[in-house]
Amino acid sequence: MHSFRYHNDRLACEDVDLAAIADAVGTPAYVYSAGTIRENFRRLDRALAGLDHQICYAIKANSNLAILNLLAAEGAGFDIVSGGELFRVLRGGGSADHCTFAGVGKTRAEIEQGLREGVHCFNVESEAELAFIDEVAGALGVTAPVAIRVNPDVDAGTHKYISTGKSQNKFGIGIDRVESLYREAAARRHLRIRGVQTHIGSQILDPAPFAEAIGKLIPIVEALKARYAIEFFSIGGGIGIVYDPALESGSPAWWSASDHPHRITPEAYAEAVVPLLRPLELKILLEPGRFLVGNAGALLASVLYVKKTPAKTFTIVDAAMNDLIRPALYDGYHEIHPLERASVREPVAMDVVGPVCESGDFFAQDRVLSALEAGERVALLSAGAYGFVMSSTYNSRPLLPEVLVNGENWSVIRKRQTYDDLIRGEIVP
Ligand code: LLP
Repeated sequence: MHSFRYHNDRLACEDVDLAAIADAVGTPAYVYSAGTIRENFRRLDRALAGLDHQICYAIKANSNLAILNLLAAEGAGFDIVSGGELFRVLRGGGSADHCTFAGVGKTRAEIEQGLREGVHCFNVESEAELAFIDEVAGALGVTAPVAIRVNPDVDAGTHKYISTGKSQNKFGIGIDRVESLYREAAARRHLRIRGVQTHIGSQILDPAPFAEAIGKLIPIVEALKARYAIEFFSIGGGIGIVYDPALESGSPAWWSASDHPHRITPEAYAEAVVPLLRPLELKILLEPGRFLVGNAGALLASVLYVKKTPAKTFTIVDAAMNDLIRPALYDGYHEIHPLERASVREPVAMDVVGPVCESGDFFAQDRVLSALEAGERVALLSAGAYGFVMSSTYNSRPLLPEVLVNGENWSVIRKRQTYDDLIRGEIVP
C-alpha cells in the first residue's frame, strides 16, 4: 500500500501536493506518509491477531525521531543494532524494555548502555559474544537478558548482500551448536535466557522461506521452552515490498532465485507462519523494517540537465547516490514519476543519474520514461526504507531534509544540513 497518487496530473502524498513541498523545502528531499506507515503497522498487526505477538520495528530502515514516535504511539517495540539506535528510540518516545538489541559486533559500551537502560533482550550472535555479555553484566552486578540468534541455513531468495540465513553468512549460530550454547548460557551466572531469535534476510517476496526457517526451528524452540522456560521466539524481519509493479508477474534480474514471482502480503505471510507458530504458545516477536516504511517514502529531485550522447540520453538530477544508494549497492529499483504530469510527452529510454563523480551514481538505466526537461521535478518512489539512513555527505553534499505528511498537513522532521553542519567537528591543527 502507498499514498503517492496523481490528482489532476499532480503527484500528491496523501492530500498534499508534492510540488508544494518541493517549492517550500527545495530538492532533493525525502517525504514520508504517516498514514501509510500507520496502515502498514495495523495491517500486519491484524494479520497476526491469532498469535500473542509484538512487532518490534527494525529502526535501521528509517530512524527519524518522528517516525519512531509515530510507531511508538501505535504500540511498536523496536529492534536496534547500536547504542546510537537505543539513544534514538528513547528520544523518540520508545522504551528500552520494548527493545531487542541485535547485531554481531556489540561493544562493551553498547552492552553497558543496554543493561543500564534495561533492554528487553540481547540477541546473541556468537559464543564469544555470549561470554562477553556475561562478563560485562557481572562487572555491573546485573543479569543480562539474552536470546540466541539461530542461523537456519535457508535460502531466502534475495540479493546476496541482504541474505543472512545461510550457513556461509556471518549471522547467528548454526543449528548443530544451539543446544550446547544454551547449556552454556544457562551455566553463566550473569545471563538470563529469555528467548530465541532468527532472521533470514531482507526483501523476501515469498512466504515459503519464512515457513521453511520456522519449520526447521520449531523442534528446537519446543525443547528450549521445556528446558529453559523461554518466553519468546523472534522470527526476525524481511517481509519484502513491491518496488516495481510491472515486475509483479516476473522477477527482477537480481533475484538469486528466479522463481519468486508473487508479491508477499501481510495476510499471505501470516497464513504461512501463524499455523506453525500458534501451537508453541509463546510470545512471537517480529522485526519488520522495510515493510512498515519502504513504500511510505519518496525522494524528490529536480532535473538539472538533459544530456544526449550518441549512446544514451542522460537525465541528470540533483539527487545522487550519496542520498539514495540502493540502486548502486543492490541494483535497487525505484519508480520515477514527474511531480507534474505534462499532457503529451514522448517515451524515451534514458539513464537517470546524479551529479556524483562515479558511474555507479544512477537511479535508473535504460529505462523508458516519458521525456523529462530541465527544471522539472520527479519523485523516486519506495524510498522510505534504507534511503535517508544510508545517505552520506560524499562529494560534500549536505544531508537532505525529511518531511512527514499527515493527511492535509506536513512538517519538516529533519532540516537540510548547512555547509556549517557539513564541517562541524573538523579541526585544522
Ligand atoms: N532483523 C534483523 C536482524 C536484520 O538484520 C534486519 C535487516 C531486519 C530485522 C529488518 O529487515 P527488513 O524487514 O527491513 O527486511 N539496506 C538493505 C537492507 C538491509 C537489511 C539489513 N537487516 C536494502 O536497502 O535493501
